[in-house]
Amino acid sequence: MKKGLFITFEGIDGCGKTTQIELLKNSLEKQGENVLLTREPGAKGLGEKLREILLNYEGDVSSNCESFLFLADRAQHIDTIIKPAIDKGVIVICDRHTDSTVAYQGYGRGLDLKQIHYLNNIATNGIKPDLTFILDIDVETSLERIGKARDRMESAGIDFFNRVRKGYIEISRQEPERAKLINGKDSIENIHSQIIKHISEF
Ligand code: ADP
Ligand code: TYD
Repeated sequence: MKKGLFITFEGIDGCGKTTQIELLKNSLEKQGENVLLTREPGAKGLGEKLREILLNYEGDVSSNCESFLFLADRAQHIDTIIKPAIDKGVIVICDRHTDSTVAYQGYGRGLDLKQIHYLNNIATNGIKPDLTFILDIDVETSLERIGKARDRMESAGIDFFNRVRKGYIEISRQEPERAKLINGKDSIENIHSQIIKHISEF
């Protein structure tokens, strides 16, 4: 029986995930909860090596290869970090997870969505987030917030990021109970309050 809670944060680059994750962690810890912060790609161990390739490799990377590397990172992450923590009753907060592959590799790169759902399900062993917060910002704001230093994924271009954003909006329409779309251009405090409200209701 699953005992903990599994919360993920999603959205295009610079949408404010790191900011909100920190606030949420502090707030939950003040209530005495045991919280684990983690991320994809690049949790501790092998994930760090995969992250290095995914974000910094300078040669060509095919879209399928990119997807399998994100999925490989996810499989290792679920088995060695996320599932053991949830089983112990910890609240796991993960910066990006399955919806990133749907939005970036599916909507962004144009890979088949059914196949991505199938592969995501294998990588996660069927474990799904209880709640997902998608922070929605426009691409211009994203590029302003990221600044000039961009990694391999962040260099993919405006059209790509518009498709990714559309993908996230579609995910929230299809799974409104789990995936909460929040205006990422609202104030940091307002966004935090909305997140806390959703978690309390859950
Ligand atoms: P992410 O982890 O999604 O890339 P960050 O939390 O690192 O995003 O935020 C990216 C930048 O945007 C940071 O400089 C941060 O201070 C700023 N930022 C985050 N949330 C907001 C907000 N609601 N309004 C204005 N700026 C924000
Ligand atoms: P990261 O620096 O973690 O971005 P951010 O701080 O915005 O979360 O970089 C992760 C990048 O990898 C980001 O551009 C999204 C991308 N990504 C995918 O394309 N597919 C995936 O499945 C995941 C997990 C991330």
